[in-house]
Amino acid sequence: MSRPDPDIDRILTEAAGRFGTPAYVYLTDLIEERIAALEAAFGRWFRLSYAMKCNPNPALLSWLKDRVPFIDVSSGGEFMLATGAGWNPARASFTGPAKREAELGRVIRDGLGELVIESLREARLADRIAGEAGRRQDVLIRIAPDRVPKGFGDQMAGRPSPFGIDVEEAPAALAEILSLPNLRVAGMHVYSGTQCLKPAAIVENWGIFIAIFRELCAAHDLRPDRLIFGSGLGIPYHPGDAALDLDEVAAAAAPGLEALKADPRFAGTELVLELGRYLVGPAGYFVTRVISTKDSRGSRIAICDGGMNGHLAASGHFGMVLRRNYVMHRVGEDEGGEEKIDISGPLCTSIDKLGSNVALPRVEAGDLIAIHASGAYGPTSSPVNFISHPTPREVLATGGQLTDATRIEGAGLRD
Ligand SMILES: Cc1ncc(COP(=O)(O)O)c(C=O)c1O
Repeated sequence: MSRPDPDIDRILTEAAGRFGTPAYVYLTDLIEERIAALEAAFGRWFRLSYAMKCNPNPALLSWLKDRVPFIDVSSGGEFMLATGAGWNPARASFTGPAKREAELGRVIRDGLGELVIESLREARLADRIAGEAGRRQDVLIRIAPDRVPKGFGDQMAGRPSPFGIDVEEAPAALAEILSLPNLRVAGMHVYSGTQCLKPAAIVENWGIFIAIFRELCAAHDLRPDRLIFGSGLGIPYHPGDAALDLDEVAAAAAPGLEALKADPRFAGTELVLELGRYLVGPAGYFVTRVISTKDSRGSRIAICDGGMNGHLAASGHFGMVLRRNYVMHRVGEDEGGEEKIDISGPLCTSIDKLGSNVALPRVEAGDLIAIHASGAYGPTSSPVNFISHPTPREVLATGGQLTDATRIEGAGLRD
């Protein structure tokens, strides 16, 4: 159980009252603070790129476009959403292991900044499409390292993986890509692990990237415009998780990054930190209303209007091995006294559970439960149409001003 912040509770209560529940509420003031913290810690080396897969809400994208220099899209659809929200396509990179011809054609013709090449198939296809469009397309080569340190919640390399070109294959692949007439190798990209709360592991991982960048660039005599570092920065989700100390990460990363910057080969290179959840995750709350409570065989259960269908990650079914409760609180004044309660959703399945044995003040029908760390991998990562309940509302809260930013309208019957 986490103590409610009265200012945040006021916003969550107003959002639920005005727009309905379940609802995601994104607090842009908190995102602003996170951008400032990242810039203070890493700004001397890195510029930021927002991986929009974690939250592609158009209102949020539009807000972010004046605050973060770059954006990473992972599909033609995300590219359309980003440009529709006002992002200049030249500021976008495009990652993803299964890019289709139609998507490549669209982004290349529309002026994508950098195509992140994940395979030779993709390089050859992009070269043909760029030639037909009369363009020379900037590309970054995505490398899959052979090692990811322990401590990452999700590993995308270090074992067989669909992402990027395996580092062992990279020298030969790079030689071929460099020979393609309609592609220009502007740099490299590594994103090998995510959700890490251990500073030493993050820094070790960046060290692996640096070694790869140095070796490949030296072997091919490249002076890259840009090197993208997949941040791996994690956020606390569960009771007892400690937030990352960015200064600790920066202090430990400084020698490797300074040495890279001091190398004449990289004098003109821009380093980019690609990240999603760290920027927006802790700035979002999922608010679900208790429809009824049940005392069942010694347990008390709150049955809510939004559960796994609205927030798959909090139900433990989005890449978690063991289900653990997210930090959550009951919205409203805390009169003291807590009891253990299970939090379940509206679906007819026993896996629709947002909390087990959570210590909360007495919960009654009509109360609101707020799940923390919900600004990333929320509505678009959830089976929102399962059983056709109303899809979650999305609300952008900027300095106390609330805007309905709902993107997904399902078949659900609203109140
Ligand atoms: C290529 C790439 N970039 C960025 C991200 C964003 O990761 P996170 O939201 O954990 O920062 C991911 C996550 O899967 C990814 O695959």
